[in-house]
Amino acid sequence: MVIGSRGSLVVGAGLEVPLVGGSSARYINLDYAASAPALVEVWDEVQSFVPWYSSVHRGAGFRSQVSTAAYEGARDAVRSFLGGRPDDTVIFTRNTTDAINLLARCLPRETAVVTTLMEHHANLLPWRRHHAAVELPVPGSPTELLASVGDALGRIPAGRPALLAVTGASNVTGEVWPIAELAALAHRHGARILVDCAQLAPHRAIDVTGPDLDWVAFSGHKLYAPFGAGVLMGRPDWLASGDAYLAGGGAVAEVSAEGAEWTELPERHEGGSPNVIGAFALAAACRALQRIGMDAVAAEEKRLGDRLRARLARVPGVVTYQTWPGYPDRVGIAAFSVNSRDHAEVATILSAEYGIGVRNGSFCAHPLLAHLADGGPEEWRPGCGRRVPGAIRASLGLGNVEEDVDRLAEALREITTRGPRWRYRKLADGGVVPEPDDRRLPAFLSPAAEQEEVELLVGATAGAL
Ligand SMILES: Cc1ncc(COP(=O)(O)O)c(C=O)c1O
Repeated sequence: MVIGSRGSLVVGAGLEVPLVGGSSARYINLDYAASAPALVEVWDEVQSFVPWYSSVHRGAGFRSQVSTAAYEGARDAVRSFLGGRPDDTVIFTRNTTDAINLLARCLPRETAVVTTLMEHHANLLPWRRHHAAVELPVPGSPTELLASVGDALGRIPAGRPALLAVTGASNVTGEVWPIAELAALAHRHGARILVDCAQLAPHRAIDVTGPDLDWVAFSGHKLYAPFGAGVLMGRPDWLASGDAYLAGGGAVAEVSAEGAEWTELPERHEGGSPNVIGAFALAAACRALQRIGMDAVAAEEKRLGDRLRARLARVPGVVTYQTWPGYPDRVGIAAFSVNSRDHAEVATILSAEYGIGVRNGSFCAHPLLAHLADGGPEEWRPGCGRRVPGAIRASLGLGNVEEDVDRLAEALREITTRGPRWRYRKLADGGVVPEPDDRRLPAFLSPAAEQEEVELLVGATAGAL
């Protein structure tokens, strides 16, 4: 397995996508921060497992026993990937959002929560809903961050349970947070720490024991295992005393006419039939990444990320965003705007004319975007009744190569100097579409489409494998 070589690592590498006007191009995936493609190793393992797939925990048949072993074994793979302590509980969830909402529901009464306005909404809104949280303003530097967190934690009365909820790496700027220092600070003040590792886990080694992180959460679909599972791992005590997250089968030990007794962890918070394939795939991704070596992943991504930022800096009219100017520790994520052009239009042109996939909008981090893009381009959100700033985000992962970064920079240069080659229409919801859009969906989504398109897709996938 060679990192940084196209086609060998992820499913769908080399996929051709249609462009407006009838031609096609190799798809350049620069949207890993939203969802990463499956690793080939993950896909292979899932295919080996699928014939054995069955119910877990309840079935007497041999397939059920295999599935139960696969599901329970997945917890060990996750624990090993995160350097978990022996008593850490591993709970499978749907994704990071689900994992953080679960923890929020289990906090002891009167827990004081400290978080920041730099967070993804998934690590902001659950605390607002369940607990009066202190939301610190976006700090100007890591030193300021540590100072304001220390100050907020210092105001919490002694003896009151407290939690610091922070991200491991920003999904907007890619900046990696000083997690070890934040954990030490939290513990010094008698607080616990949850780290939202949705963007950190795919790019950096995580070892919860070193900095003694109390809980971490991440999503399989960002970790090359897009089969619908996520994880909350950490200290069992608060989770063991919380009510079952979902009331129903699997989460109860006994039910009578009078009431119900919840089971122990981890099943207590995994009510209903679990996502066996999702958990198995997530574990396969953890094993595959450990084999590749997270240090090797980080080194290769640093090389490509540096190239991405350097190339963007040379495109006239492109402005990149950073919360802490000059801060060097970043994963391969870059948010930027193109002067005088709507971010939705630029993202649509990149897709329609160049076959490049990026994300645009406010990345579920409205307060941070409002801070970064102060006075910059804005996106209209009909539902919320006011304008929200927006930008474009390019994000990297395994399977990206230098040419991907170079093609993005070249496309942006053409867009800024020459403008689009096609017509586009702005929609009422702020989106932008090619007018007309003559690209056809692949045949499996359109029964009337020609068989050739199916062959095109299968060929591309087989090539990648
Ligand atoms: C930093 C961060 N936290 C949380 C989430 C939420 O992840 P999910 O949508 O998988 O629940 C995301 C998703 O983009 C993220 O980037």
